[in-house]
Amino acid sequence: MDFKQIISHCKEYGFIFPSSEIYDGLSATYDYGPNGVELKNNIKSYWWKSMVQMHQNIVGLDAAIFMHPKTWKASGHVDAFNDPLVDNKDSKKRYRADVLVEDFMAKIEGKINKDVAKAKKKFGDAFNEEEFRSTNGRVIERQKKHDEIGSKLATRMSDGDMEGLKSLIEELEIACPISGSKNWTDVRQFNLMFSTQLGNVAGEEGKLYLRPETAQGIFVNFLNVQKSTRQKLPFGIAQIGKAFRNEIVARQFIFRMREFEQMEMQYFIKPGTEMKWFDYWKQTRLDWHKALGTPAEKLRFHDHENLAHYANAATDIQFEFPFGFKELEGIHSRTDFDLKSHQELSGKKLQFFDPEMNESYVPYVLETSVGCDRMFLTQISNALQEETVPDKDGKESTRTVLKLNPAIAPVKCAVLPLVKNKEEITKAATDVFDKIKGSVLCQYDEKDAIGRRYRRQDAIGTPYCVTVDFDSLEDNCVTIRDRDTLTQERVPIDKIQSIVADKVDMNKLL
Ligand code: GAP
Repeated sequence: MDFKQIISHCKEYGFIFPSSEIYDGLSATYDYGPNGVELKNNIKSYWWKSMVQMHQNIVGLDAAIFMHPKTWKASGHVDAFNDPLVDNKDSKKRYRADVLVEDFMAKIEGKINKDVAKAKKKFGDAFNEEEFRSTNGRVIERQKKHDEIGSKLATRMSDGDMEGLKSLIEELEIACPISGSKNWTDVRQFNLMFSTQLGNVAGEEGKLYLRPETAQGIFVNFLNVQKSTRQKLPFGIAQIGKAFRNEIVARQFIFRMREFEQMEMQYFIKPGTEMKWFDYWKQTRLDWHKALGTPAEKLRFHDHENLAHYANAATDIQFEFPFGFKELEGIHSRTDFDLKSHQELSGKKLQFFDPEMNESYVPYVLETSVGCDRMFLTQISNALQEETVPDKDGKESTRTVLKLNPAIAPVKCAVLPLVKNKEEITKAATDVFDKIKGSVLCQYDEKDAIGRRYRRQDAIGTPYCVTVDFDSLEDNCVTIRDRDTLTQERVPIDKIQSIVADKVDMNKLL
């Protein structure tokens, strides 16, 4: 399905609505509808269980969004959490300078991929892609140009060289996609934090920020958590919560929002062991995505050349969204940067006493950080399909089906009486519904023909539909239909609750 179809499906079936839509919406802000909130909660639960339930040495936290303003000074966000901003003087449109260059690079990559696809078609089975990429003159030339631009971008970004970024845009003759002109302003730094004001303190003193990452709530609570839970290194603190960023270019639906949710885990480790844990968490997190059914070929690592101010190693897990491979999760070796900065600015020790070494030190931190909304988009875009299925009269018809992993599907089971207004059937179906509703989210639906009811459930990803018919009154059995295989099986009513609960059990993924 293309991206537009995904967005409209999300709206039509109550997954995602534009925020305050009756006022024409607010850009890059979205509300999760009845099915959306269930799917999102299930994603969060899968993450939380895999971190907190499955690791004795990882504990949870729910810190406040507002934090003491010094937090953001210490963390470097006041001084360094900037994006390079550039305006086109003719269209008056605002862009991120680095994204303009990245888009330019993506076009070169697109041309290379076209060359590869053409050659593949020409040579068929005999085609060796690796050899083609390393020997074809045009591809080598394009790849060289691509890599040179990438390395210039990385150095200019990490040096904070705004003039260099502007000259790169000019050198590449990048034009504004709206006006087509190359009439750019200077590139300048733009801080991404939203600020607000405490009610009882005037001026700069009372300036508060909406947190741009949840991680700092974990750092400032490091000792509280360590002492109250008596954890030893290595140990982790996990948190799910809202974060806010005044993104310059917020587009691509819920991919880049100004208010979004993060699932972050900070793993406190002994200095010197960070590369071991970096590799461990890279693999562990990739496996977590795959266990949900995300295809391996849609996931890849992308190591950072341009490191954030706090990191000594970083990689992204990228997913192939409908608009290309983009960051889904970040894995960062944050050294002791944050704890040390908080220690210095607060004057409070943030150290761990290591009984084996008989000394205290500031731990290093390995972070995993995945956006909940981006996870949502990966699951929806991967699962939404249109397929041809056999009809009851032997013909074929198309259906829209959301093949979500049953463990995260919003509704796990629908109970469908075969006919309505038949008292005995309604009663039997209501009894079945009552049996199931205590263990999983279940829907009762008696409106329209059975085929249409199946389609409604397919479209929201319900993995199992249970039909209650006249035979049920005699044999105390119901028919359970599998969303993906369309197989139908007759099962006893007194086992239906445990059958459904077992089929959708999230613990099997962990
Ligand atoms: N604490 C580290 C940190 O915040 P990040 O790479 O800036 O690192 C982590 O963000 C994750 O948060 C990203 O991989 C992405 O999934 C999500 N994220 C970041 N900005 C976002 C935005 N504007 N909208 C939606 N998700 C976002």
